[in-house]
Amino acid sequence: MRADPLGFLDAELEALKQQGLYRRLRVLEDEQKAKTTFDHRQVVNLSSNNYLGLTTHPTLRERALEATRTLGVGSGSVRTIAGTMEIHMELERRLAEFKKTEAVVVFQSGFAANAGTVAALLTKDDVVVSDELNHASIIDGARLSRATVKVFSHKDVDGARRILRGLPASQRTLLITDGVFSMDGDLGALPELCALAEEFGCIMMVDDAHASGVFGKNGRGTIDLFNVHGRVDIQVGTLSKAFGALGGYVAGSRALVEFLYHRARPFLFSTSHPPAVAAACIAALDVLMEEPQIIDRLWENTRLFKAGLVGLGFNTGLSESPITPVIVGEGALAMKLSDRLFEEGVFAQGIAFPTVARDKARVRTIVTATHTREELQFALDAFAKVGRELGII
Ligand SMILES: Cc1ncc(COP(=O)(O)O)c(C=O)c1O
Repeated sequence: MRADPLGFLDAELEALKQQGLYRRLRVLEDEQKAKTTFDHRQVVNLSSNNYLGLTTHPTLRERALEATRTLGVGSGSVRTIAGTMEIHMELERRLAEFKKTEAVVVFQSGFAANAGTVAALLTKDDVVVSDELNHASIIDGARLSRATVKVFSHKDVDGARRILRGLPASQRTLLITDGVFSMDGDLGALPELCALAEEFGCIMMVDDAHASGVFGKNGRGTIDLFNVHGRVDIQVGTLSKAFGALGGYVAGSRALVEFLYHRARPFLFSTSHPPAVAAACIAALDVLMEEPQIIDRLWENTRLFKAGLVGLGFNTGLSESPITPVIVGEGALAMKLSDRLFEEGVFAQGIAFPTVARDKARVRTIVTATHTREELQFALDAFAKVGRELGII
């Protein structure tokens, strides 16, 4: 019998266990909502990206069901063959109107939108200038493009400028930042980076995954918040977080979108969304326009919860968004904090290296518009109890 060629994986997994970093997947046995059941335990859920509670919003649910009844469960093809349905086109028109751009192309996920776009646009002769904390999908897209990647320290605009100064004037360069950084919850330096892109003639790209539905008028994102409309060539958003369903999109010029129709590999080689997903996303846009008070509630909850954590003495970093990290340092301590919170009825995921730096392990919390005051207070009480028990506060 041949030796198991994947035998080395056991050693890798054992090493994770030794370091206290081995994670079992938590299983959700109910709907994705503010208070729900994971692993047979009812918990206050501070781990989803369901910022506005749209995963269970009645309008989205009904429209998804209606689309399934009238259009079936699948699109049956990639977009470029037979899988472009009228409902996909309607979603793209609606998103372009929402983002105030000429056109939008929807991908299967935010990951596919970022990776597919960066890889399609750039070649080995090009350069990507990227914030060190940009999302993995941007990094993977850059790797696939074979462009030279030059990384500046987090939000270090002067560092980005130094890199750009060192490049030949004719160099095709993509300057790229997250709008909201997913592990720290702080905002990209959009106005300053847009000015740099203009000065050095770069393509300016913003990944606004965590900002869509959260920042700007009716949740238009950080481009709207900072009023840099027309100065960002490529905006990426996701439909998987505040929008409550699934997908990603690229908003920009008509030429950009048509180019991506021809060159973005996830668009060309992977089947498009089922009609129910497109219908739910269109319904999410309606909710954002008709019920903007949901976004106000998200921010009220965010302010209350952040103030509570800071008041207890936790290190919440530099967050400016509903993502509030509780930074504890060691990976094993973050996992212990997360596990003890879970036993106390609060689900806040522990995050360690390589997702964040080795000495910056944390429990990440995300409140939603649909948490009640009582649920947030319950969570704060659990943080206080476990934080003291583990000597963190
Ligand atoms: C900053 C950022 N960009 C992109 C993505 C990918 O989005 P999606 O989950 O829709 O693939 C995520 C989500 O994990 C993210 O946090």
